[in-house]
Amino acid sequence: PNISEEEFARDYINHLEEIILYEGSESIAAILMESVTGTNGIIIPPNGYMQGVRALCDKYGIVMIADEVMSGFGRTGKWFAIEHWGVVPDIMTMAKGLTSAYAPLGAVAMKPEIAAAFDEQVFESGLTYTSHPISLAAAVANIQAMREDQVVEHAAGMGGVLRRMLTDLGESHPSVGEVRSIGLFGIIELVKDRKTKEPMAPWNGSSPEMAALRTYCLDNGLFLYTHWHTVLIVPPLIITEEQLREGMDVLDKALTITDKVANK
Ligand SMILES: Cc1ncc(COP(=O)(O)O)c(C=O)c1O
Repeated sequence: PNISEEEFARDYINHLEEIILYEGSESIAAILMESVTGTNGIIIPPNGYMQGVRALCDKYGIVMIADEVMSGFGRTGKWFAIEHWGVVPDIMTMAKGLTSAYAPLGAVAMKPEIAAAFDEQVFESGLTYTSHPISLAAAVANIQAMREDQVVEHAAGMGGVLRRMLTDLGESHPSVGEVRSIGLFGIIELVKDRKTKEPMAPWNGSSPEMAALRTYCLDNGLFLYTHWHTVLIVPPLIITEEQLREGMDVLDKALTITDKVANK
């Protein structure tokens, strides 16, 4: 608890280096990770971690792959989440926000030196709808609209608003164990006990309280993605402060359901 974020990150990096040495760097082609882990808990890396992974990849000749499928395209208040730490990966995967989900599309970006390998070798890959013109047109139009409407800048601004709202919810509800957010990518972890952090539902499972909270929200016009003991807060990037407040008001009431079984 008394160590800085940088020291914390260094501990993790030292651990990662130990694993690389143990496995043998020549046996590791790449390290692939989400820049900010999405569904599994909106896990925001401590400052220094991504820079440390980049340095380890450079040191041992390992390709660094950033999965930006969930965290990319403005979700965290930057075009790509990895930009928060000033890191350039060798390969980046993207999808969802690439077309604002108006059409299905995934893409992989890579550094020219990696792409050059495919000048000589055929990349054997293909899906029925690979490079479908309608999806590609949707991506181009989406990127243009996001730039014109300054959607990423808006998401960055609303990120601060969401952070304050989540902090307030945390302070007023005993069943809130922790809140985290970066841009418009947030999460509430619900617990039965703040001290022990006993989750409101088991890993990979649900509980009557989590089910009741979800039902209350749906009945009151708020669709939220709940997962195990967590509630993900991942609103459209164009959301206004007023709309966010409207949703948070429903959630504020819904949390009284989980508060009933939480130790004060
Ligand atoms: C972070 C992340 N990476 C990868 C995927 C899988 O993407 P695809 O279906 O394009 O393979 C998902 C899908 O939900 C995801 O959230």
